[in-house]
Amino acid sequence: MSEQAPNFKVTIDNISIEVPAGTTILNAARMIGGEVTPPAMCYYSKLKDSGGKCRTCLVEVSKGSEKDPRPMPKLMASCRTTVMDGMEVKNITSEKVVDARKGVVEFLLLNHPLDCPVCDQAGECDLQNLSYEHGSEATRYEFKRRTFEKEDIGPYISLHMTRCIMCFRCVYTADQLTDKREHGILERGDHAQISTMLNKALDHDFIGNVIDVCPVGALTDKTFRFKNRVWFTKPVDAHRDCKHEKCNGKVRLWMRGEEVFRVTARKDQFGEVEEFICNECRFDKKETKDWVIEGPSLIQRSSVISQGHYVGTKKTPILINTVIGKEPKHLLDIHSISDVNRPEIDLSKIEGPAHSDDFKVSK
Ligand code: SF4
Ligand code: FES
Repeated sequence: MSEQAPNFKVTIDNISIEVPAGTTILNAARMIGGEVTPPAMCYYSKLKDSGGKCRTCLVEVSKGSEKDPRPMPKLMASCRTTVMDGMEVKNITSEKVVDARKGVVEFLLLNHPLDCPVCDQAGECDLQNLSYEHGSEATRYEFKRRTFEKEDIGPYISLHMTRCIMCFRCVYTADQLTDKREHGILERGDHAQISTMLNKALDHDFIGNVIDVCPVGALTDKTFRFKNRVWFTKPVDAHRDCKHEKCNGKVRLWMRGEEVFRVTARKDQFGEVEEFICNECRFDKKETKDWVIEGPSLIQRSSVISQGHYVGTKKTPILINTVIGKEPKHLLDIHSISDVNRPEIDLSKIEGPAHSDDFKVSK
């Protein structure tokens, strides 16, 4: 019989939780949930070896462990640092972390074009969300941003190299999901870029998943390009009897009226896909009749597309620390904390975008 890993107690932003030994600080924070969870632009729990590239998940370890209480001298990448018993971590309660995260966002934006108004990822872009939360309004950068030769990487996927933040997620996805990876990172440092090596099209039947894992608009769906803004479409969970042995056919449709504009994998509250889907489901099944509709998707994130589709995060039992004596502030159902829409209007059920009629007239 295998021995169970011991549980370690870790305290993050004054909230304690017990987790199995070997859990990273980031995953322990995800178990607590809410604002305690550091952002992650490169870590992806479904991709082996991911993490450690972007530094957005930095935290301060103010006490190493019960046995060795010395603080760690530098801020640590929470996606790569495992908890120790008695460890104390500061995320949003650390001024150093808040300041460093601001710097990381500034670095990520150095070469990133501010083309959100014409980018298909706008509204569901992790970098856009991150810069709203942690960025500064102006840039100090005076130099020319990086530019690249435009590269065609096949019929389904569009690559905008200027938007890439070198998180490596797409490379790991292609490596771990397909058996013939044709793209990777060429060159080093400032010249590094995602490329298809010999300009080959990426035609593996699971390659569409690189679109879903890309945290920015560097890899987007050519079949959806410029068709609609994501916040005008309604996410709906659906499934079909997919014949591909590795695809279970469970997807999210992005609809407007009866039209299916886009098909993606379903994502969880941390923006990660629940299960990868095949290219046929993603790119070739764009008719409502191709799908069995299950109902409106429960979007669990605080982005613009979650307006009216937002549900409370699942709570894990936690030990409330006596110092603050209260539960962490979770981002909850906007309907329970907001009364801007008319009470009889369910924004997730209306067709198309909400209009002024759907909102209360202030007295
Ligand atoms: S293209 Fe997207 S997923 Fe790939 S490394 Fe760049 S940002 Fe990451
Ligand atoms: S998420 Fe930890 S370094 Fe990128």
